[in-house]
Amino acid sequence: MLIPVILSGGSGTRLWPLSRTLYPKQFLPLAGKRTMFQQTVARAMAVPGATAPVILCNEEHRFLVAEQLRQMGVTPSAIVLEPVGRNTAPAAAVAALHAASIADEALTMVLPADHVISDEAAFAAAVSKGIPAARDGRLITFGILPAHPETGYGYIRMGQALGLDGVCAVAAFKEKPDLQTAKTYLDSGEYVWNSGIFLFQAKSYLDELDKHSPAIVSSCRAALDQARRDMDFTRLDKEAFAACLDDSIDYAVMEKTQLAAVVSMDAGWSDVGSWKALWEIGSRDASGNVLAGDALTHDTKDTYVRAEGRLVATVGVSDLVIVETTDAVLVAAKDRVQDVKKIVDALKASG
Ligand code: GDD
Ligand code: MG
Repeated sequence: MLIPVILSGGSGTRLWPLSRTLYPKQFLPLAGKRTMFQQTVARAMAVPGATAPVILCNEEHRFLVAEQLRQMGVTPSAIVLEPVGRNTAPAAAVAALHAASIADEALTMVLPADHVISDEAAFAAAVSKGIPAARDGRLITFGILPAHPETGYGYIRMGQALGLDGVCAVAAFKEKPDLQTAKTYLDSGEYVWNSGIFLFQAKSYLDELDKHSPAIVSSCRAALDQARRDMDFTRLDKEAFAACLDDSIDYAVMEKTQLAAVVSMDAGWSDVGSWKALWEIGSRDASGNVLAGDALTHDTKDTYVRAEGRLVATVGVSDLVIVETTDAVLVAAKDRVQDVKKIVDALKASG
């Protein structure tokens, strides 16, 4: 049994002004007709042996999740609501506890809700390769060939082959290195990016988390034991979950465990972390522009334009990101889009 777990708690501030606290990027149709959340659910359920998914999200987004599943005709195994965000290590722990309560030997496949994968067959094939090793107690990650020295990702040094088809031990795992270190990793050719997708037996993850961060496991167990059913939702106990440490799977477990293994994946993966990523994966016209909505360009190159309501016209510009919405317009240099979160911070600070 393979239980997909969709982590849908992020806020996606770098995709402002479209992605908002109340309507984060995973719930928007940014890369196709379906939202990234819906694409993730479909991709997960297409893996052979997969059951209905478990969704973990912030309680603020419960109706978005329920409605987007309904549109797809999917009945989830559970929609677990977090009263506060505590990052991915606790979210995955709650999911693993839920999975273990269904079946001891259940495999859990953890998927971020905000990724785009263009080659679904290659994705399913990579997951299938990881299954035997996960059954053996390994914590499987999926490695992406790195393209540039990105500092927002985890880096995995590939170790020796585990004797299983396409599965290697993880010799070292470094989460979010600084730029200099990332460059060294890239130049060495020994590293892959962590895709942020994990596959493990619920018990293996819980045992490893218990070894390295036992307080997280006990807080999550308490939050789930005292959870409240509310319509189709499972509401984690607020006090118990709020008391949980905030940490990611990557820092809490993957950097420390001896049981990590990696399967290389070449499936057109993008974590859609910025507007630039949407330009990269979008379909470009002859001048390299990606245009969504009512956009008219003249003598414009390598630019991303997204018009939600009004007509957006550009003349004689290049390498820009322009995003028009009803209440805000973003114009940014394409190479500076990581700093969009500075605008969001400034807006938050000004109330
Ligand atoms: N339910 C829930 N609750 N989901 C969460 C929470 C939470 O508190 N926090 C984050 N998530 C979801 C996000 O929505 C996202 O889909 C996923 O978990 C990963 O969280 P991010 O915050 O986006 O992590 P990251 O991008 O900094 O780093 C991770 O992903 C990279 C690849 O995109 C790490 O795993 C890196 O090692 C990896 O390279
Ligand atoms: Mg991310």
